[in-house]
Amino acid sequence: MAPSVRALVLGMFCFRALDVAAELGLPAYFFYPSGGGAVAVLLHLPSMHPRVNDAGLATAARQPGNFLRMSELMAESSGIILNTFEWLETRAVHALKDGLCVPRGRATPPVYCVGPLVSGGGGGGATEHECLRWLDAQPDQAVVFLSFGSRGTFPKKQLDEIAAGLERSGQRFLWVVRSPTVAINDSNGEDGALAGAPPLEPDLDALLPAGFLERTEGRGLVVRSWAPQVEVLRHRATGTFVTHCGWNSTLEAVTAGVPLLCWPLYAEQRLNKVLIVEGMELGAEIEGYDEETVAAEEVEAKVRWVMESDGGHALRRRAAAAKDAAARALEEGGTSYVAVSDFVEGLRTSNGRTKVSVSDFSGFGTKLK
Ligand SMILES: *[C@@H]1O[C@H](CO)[C@@H](O)[C@H](O)[C@H]1NC(C)=O
Ligand SMILES: *[C@@H]1O[C@H](CO)[C@@H](O)[C@H](O)[C@H]1NC(C)=O
Repeated sequence: MAPSVRALVLGMFCFRALDVAAELGLPAYFFYPSGGGAVAVLLHLPSMHPRVNDAGLATAARQPGNFLRMSELMAESSGIILNTFEWLETRAVHALKDGLCVPRGRATPPVYCVGPLVSGGGGGGATEHECLRWLDAQPDQAVVFLSFGSRGTFPKKQLDEIAAGLERSGQRFLWVVRSPTVAINDSNGEDGALAGAPPLEPDLDALLPAGFLERTEGRGLVVRSWAPQVEVLRHRATGTFVTHCGWNSTLEAVTAGVPLLCWPLYAEQRLNKVLIVEGMELGAEIEGYDEETVAAEEVEAKVRWVMESDGGHALRRRAAAAKDAAARALEEGGTSYVAVSDFVEGLRTSNGRTKVSVSDFSGFGTKLK
């Protein structure tokens, strides 16, 4: 209610707050923390409806109505701020800016690609994590780094296969292992992977194959639960990143110039995998993640491919180019720098008002029917 408030910037899951902006006559912007490809698909959802419902988006998203509504409200906002940069997602960004993603006859709000926004690392801890000292002793670009995000866990059976694949690959590795999640009965009907009980500190001797730690000692390091990911990715010894394709992790690898081996787990990560492999051409896919278990042979083959083959070298060169492009985007005059200026300039001159009226919300259920 302060008179000096010029606009609201909403996180994507706060989309219903657009009615607050409408009531106050303020422009409302969305900050969407994933990439342009994901928002292009999101904006396209209403065009697919009602096919979306029939095709079982309900199974994928549980609450298709929410995603459709998020999509519609985002399209009615004063602008969408994205944590990406134009070089990385040329096709998606052009599709968005050319208005190809929203339903026919509707306008797309301005899209501001201001990324890559990546936390600086450092963590503020007084002591350096042991894995960084270990990396200091490894050759350049020689280590396979495996980490699956704050919610990525595997059953013991899958950990066994990963371990066997790494061991047979002969490659150096740094692997973050978390305890398997114990599924809890969540009355909200959330995915088990998202709603599991907080994992315990893993007992590596119990979780990994017998003798694995001894046999790979020196060549590999397994750390429990967490590693300083940004520092690890920026370390000269890191050669590839086996990742769940969360957007933060993706950008952290891109800004560090490290190629990706994609093993998506949940949320929009499968989509990110497609963007990384086919759009950005910065990674390859570890096949079988949709089946019960990814086999040791596949882990071994893909790790060796990216570390040893010509294809892997080409990927590394492209990753180095992406790192440079990310830095250029943020420099004065770079695309992301200009996008931030445009956004601020838009705020100064905007008399845009949020068009959605409160009553639009109650009608949505009817509209779906
Ligand atoms: C992504 O990184 C930002 C900091 O750059 C952090 O605030 C946010 O919590 C991270 N998101 C996830 C899902 O880890
Ligand atoms: C999960 O919880 C709900 C609500 O408390 C209950 O109705 C349901 O029977 C539970 N399901 C299982 C498998 O325990």
